[in-house]
Amino acid sequence: MNVILVAAECAPWSKTGGLGDVVGSLPKALARRGHRVMVVTPRYGNYAEAQDTGVRKTYRVNGHDLEVKYFQAFIDGVDFVFIDNPVFHHLERNIYGGSRLDILKRMVLFCKAAVEVPWHVPCGGVCYGDGNLAFIANDWHTALLPVYLKAYYRDHGLMKYTRSVLVIHNIAHQGRGPVDDFFLVDLPEHHIDLFKLYDPIGGDHFNIFAAGLKAADRVVTVSHGYAWELKTSEGGWGLHGIINDNDWKLRGIVNGIDNKDWNPEFDVHLKSDGYTNYSLETLSSGKAKCKAALQKELGLPVDKDVPVIGFIGRLDQQKGVDLIGEAIPWLMGQDVQLVMLGTGRPDLERMLRQFESQHHDKIRGWVGFSVKMAHRITAGADILLMPSRFEPCGLNQLYAMNYGTVPVVHAVGGLRDTVKPFDPFSESGVGWTFNSADSGKLVDALGNCLWTYREYKKSWEGLQRRGMTQDLSWDNAAQQYEEVLLAAKYQW
Ligand SMILES: *[C@@H]1O[C@H](CO)[C@@H](O)[C@H](O)[C@H]1NC(C)=O
Repeated sequence: MNVILVAAECAPWSKTGGLGDVVGSLPKALARRGHRVMVVTPRYGNYAEAQDTGVRKTYRVNGHDLEVKYFQAFIDGVDFVFIDNPVFHHLERNIYGGSRLDILKRMVLFCKAAVEVPWHVPCGGVCYGDGNLAFIANDWHTALLPVYLKAYYRDHGLMKYTRSVLVIHNIAHQGRGPVDDFFLVDLPEHHIDLFKLYDPIGGDHFNIFAAGLKAADRVVTVSHGYAWELKTSEGGWGLHGIINDNDWKLRGIVNGIDNKDWNPEFDVHLKSDGYTNYSLETLSSGKAKCKAALQKELGLPVDKDVPVIGFIGRLDQQKGVDLIGEAIPWLMGQDVQLVMLGTGRPDLERMLRQFESQHHDKIRGWVGFSVKMAHRITAGADILLMPSRFEPCGLNQLYAMNYGTVPVVHAVGGLRDTVKPFDPFSESGVGWTFNSADSGKLVDALGNCLWTYREYKKSWEGLQRRGMTQDLSWDNAAQQYEEVLLAAKYQW
């Protein structure tokens, strides 16, 4: 099939979170399965790889005609098309910045331009065309695309064989606004019902995600656990009614990880400063070396026996950083080291700095984001803590397991799907889970984990090895996406 992923961010050029990683990796895995695959994303910066195709088109946004240029690159078997207009420039560090109306106008332009890319933009000399084509749109930013595909084209006998899939990475952001926002998306009046939603939070309002979910031929979300939670009033954030109505077309597919970037055997960030790359065969010596290098780099006592607990993520309520805060008095009574990397809420950043100064031989807080440090913590830590309140898929637990680092997680969303709890009787499972966002529960799970680390070395190694030998690659996920694309094409 011809497949076009459309997204507001795409690693390595632009990324704020998991969405950027997925859009950077899934297309390559689909291309390896023999599909012709393109990614369409805004051109926020001056990307060296992409050439101007010379194609120019004009789209109307809020009464103004805006001209877009299309830049193109072919990398790892995938066509990348960057849509250029001054409204996108210099936003690579602030993709979702500006007022609600600014971002809405950007996404209207982006979706209008993206849907016609298969007609206008030659890749390798030939346009994709609209036969045998499926779009994969992502989150509310591109949820207008399935709506436009239907309202502008398919309802008028155009793009008859083109289908759309909408992927939910995070339902918390929906493109909500007052009902009058409808006039900005430039659709005939009768489409207003697609967007109009009433709920106790927003009252009568305009909701782009709602319209996209109704218009798409299929809906995917990034884990089974999250697919289930989306149908509940706590997890659906007001959209659970629509998601339940459309349950027949919803499927959960757990994200894969990029096995080139996040592979302890080839990790470029482990090749200096005393770290080392390692594999299953060299696990214990390799990891010990990385742990010592991490302790040294962070100025913690170098000690191979003290368990190092890592946390990597935004410092906010969603990631459960406050639960770690509540567990600190207990944790500091243990012989452990805690290393935390992230940025976020200023009060939580302050909390982290304060813990570090109070417990200087046990805690390091790295306020900031460093890809290198994320890799080094993943390799050097024994345990990765993820007490997220919600987590659609989560990638850090997958990276951790690939590096022989044992996850301790709140069993929610994708964390529940991917971290099978350790069972000492059958020596199965890959980590520890706790089933409510509560620091007491976290302490119980982490306590059991530390006990096993200290007293049952053989079990610990089994946990590490089982984690490392799972197939966490995108190839597995790509096969499931392919099934969804085929279902969208043939069963509707
Ligand atoms: C480390 O990486 C190099 C390639 O850069 C590879 O040849 C070597 O086998 C790796 N070592 C281990 C222990 O995986």
